[in-house]
Amino acid sequence: MQALRKYGDPEYWNKRYSTASGTFDWYFEYHPFIAQILDGFNSKEISILDVGCGNSKFSEILVSKGYKKITCIDYSKAFFEHLFQEFHERLPSVHYMYMDARMLSFPEASFDVVFDKGLLDSALTGELSYVNAKQIIKSCLRVLKPFGKYIIISHSDMETRKEHFLDPSFDCELRCESIVVTDNDCHEGEERLPDLTFYAYIFSKHLH
Ligand SMILES: C[S@@+](CC[C@H](N)C(=O)[O-])C[C@H]1O[C@@H](n2cnc3c(N)ncnc32)[C@H](O)[C@@H]1O
Repeated sequence: MQALRKYGDPEYWNKRYSTASGTFDWYFEYHPFIAQILDGFNSKEISILDVGCGNSKFSEILVSKGYKKITCIDYSKAFFEHLFQEFHERLPSVHYMYMDARMLSFPEASFDVVFDKGLLDSALTGELSYVNAKQIIKSCLRVLKPFGKYIIISHSDMETRKEHFLDPSFDCELRCESIVVTDNDCHEGEERLPDLTFYAYIFSKHLH
């Protein structure tokens, strides 16, 4: 448990990003399940917010799929000092912003999709994890448009996460789907990695 605590500490991310280059993705890069949710909007003009983006490839994949309105935020200063330039040059249409997911400064109902892969999981390992998790979820739901989807990709199942997610004040529909990631890149002669299961939590916001 002590070893996991580091992921909830901004200094861990600052240290990591101060020597990183290129992309790195937690859990997986992309998945047909995510494509299916985005395709459901029937438009490449939807606004997508990636919270706790880090140096993930997600924004690059979205650009390659034709999505035009992509914003990425992270609270690591080191990301902006060491990696931002590289990302900005490669993906000039993507807005990268230094921001804390607990206090998103966008107006209410700004995004069709809010995407979190690994941010909440990391926040839940740190100090004041319960308080931080609630602030993050509330803040992400606030900036979500009616009929929007807030997608959280986590390594933990509903039994473990329900105390954070099943809060009536969120006033949203919530479903959870398992995502199985297979080692498709395995080449002949290489050891095949076991399939891994992650969980996608999808909050749907309705108009009242
Ligand atoms: C596990 S990494 C996931 C990175 C990326 N989303 C991926 O899928 O590879 C968690 C990221 O969330 C960021 N983060 C953690 N807490 C945050 C917060 N309160 N606001 C913004 N970013 C945060 C960290 O700096 C880190 O980049």
